[in-house]
Amino acid sequence: MAKLIIKKSPPLKGTVKISGSKNSVLPILTASLLGQGKSKILDVPDLKDVVIMQDLLQHLGASIKWDKVKKEIEIETDNIKEYEAPYELVSKMRASFLVMGPLLARIKKAKIPLPGGCAIGSRPVDLHLKGFSALGAEIIQENGYVEAYADKLVGNKIYLDFPSVGATENIMMAAVYAEGTTIIENAAVEPEIVDLANYLNAMGADIRGAGTDSIKINGVKNLTGTSHCVIPDRIEAGTFMVAGAITRGDILIENVVSDHLKPIIAKLKECRVEVIETDKGIRVCGKDSIKSVDIKTLPYPGFPTDMQAPFMSLLSMAEGTSVVIETVFENRFMHVGELKRMGAKIKIEGRSAIIDGVNKLTGTQVRATDLRAGASLILSALVADKTTEISDIYHIERGYSELEKKLAALGANIEKVK
Ligand code: UD1
Repeated sequence: MAKLIIKKSPPLKGTVKISGSKNSVLPILTASLLGQGKSKILDVPDLKDVVIMQDLLQHLGASIKWDKVKKEIEIETDNIKEYEAPYELVSKMRASFLVMGPLLARIKKAKIPLPGGCAIGSRPVDLHLKGFSALGAEIIQENGYVEAYADKLVGNKIYLDFPSVGATENIMMAAVYAEGTTIIENAAVEPEIVDLANYLNAMGADIRGAGTDSIKINGVKNLTGTSHCVIPDRIEAGTFMVAGAITRGDILIENVVSDHLKPIIAKLKECRVEVIETDKGIRVCGKDSIKSVDIKTLPYPGFPTDMQAPFMSLLSMAEGTSVVIETVFENRFMHVGELKRMGAKIKIEGRSAIIDGVNKLTGTQVRATDLRAGASLILSALVADKTTEISDIYHIERGYSELEKKLAALGANIEKVK
């Protein structure tokens, strides 16, 4: 099993280029199932999750060419006949459930294993299913699978009890061919939703209001392939911003959309980190002392839950006490136990973590319990005394493209060993 070996690193310096967004490319690839002909997706990040999605879409009948050097995927979906997603693939990646909306729209049936719980909570799919059934689908749940069938889908008004990213995406895709108009209310407003809607509209869909909490989808008759460039990954960008801050470095982060990073920029500035928005990207200059701040994770444009663990690494070395409240997922503090093993002083009370800043962390053996927890361990290891050995790094590779190479190019003492 591969591990990351990280030694205390000098302040990071240089320029890093952010990859295309994981959370955009996955739904965009599933949306390709909706069209006839070929689509070309640009700036595709080289991630394990994209490999799993490729396997799943090929299983359903798509033909895919992935040029990793050019970072392009060409996908042709003329012959989608298979409607069942294999358990082995869905159990590896929850985003696989996002094929359900497109399959239902395109071939009027889908059978997908129910995603189980995961390291960050139970993560139900009730809102996705509520949306499909409002469009007229019959939903059957048995033997660990969800089956959905529809002779035809008809537009409806759907109110989401919570602005779920996945449910908004799945329902939006299910509704593209529905008769009449679908309105999703209390929809998620994340940039990835807008990216998906832009892709679907370029394929011929009629979606308005993406990026607001009310999305209107007028049903159309057919979609065709198109070319689309994925937006930059705001969580990868945020992770590098914290890397610059925690090592008291000076790095320029290229290929970013500043607007998508507002909550992260605001919190870094509150910590007294210097963040400069330039034409070329975002420059982060760490200061000697980091001020403690309080954080509450919220749906966009609030502070992203995916940045909660990486930011906690920074706060664990701040002056004073910070409180982090996780409101999006029920159990997203798995990194805390590992950070404590490195000397962080953190106490969990329900959905809050109370962090008393320390001025020294010490490297040891730790385990990446999930993707963002893994990122937080890397960040802490960069400033910890002695050596940190991180295992289960496949979680990190699911969502960060060449993270250790990018960090090493900035001067980090990081090495991947088998
Ligand atoms: C997506 C992102 C993930 C991010 C999350 C929140 C992808 C591939 N993943 O995940 O990185 O952390 O958004 O920004 O884009 N919920 C329900 N019922 C449902 C659906 C969701 O109760 O049917 C709950 C979840 O359990 C969770 C909350 O809603 O507590 C948010 O989940 P959601 O926005 O759906 O996240 P994902 O789409 O799974």
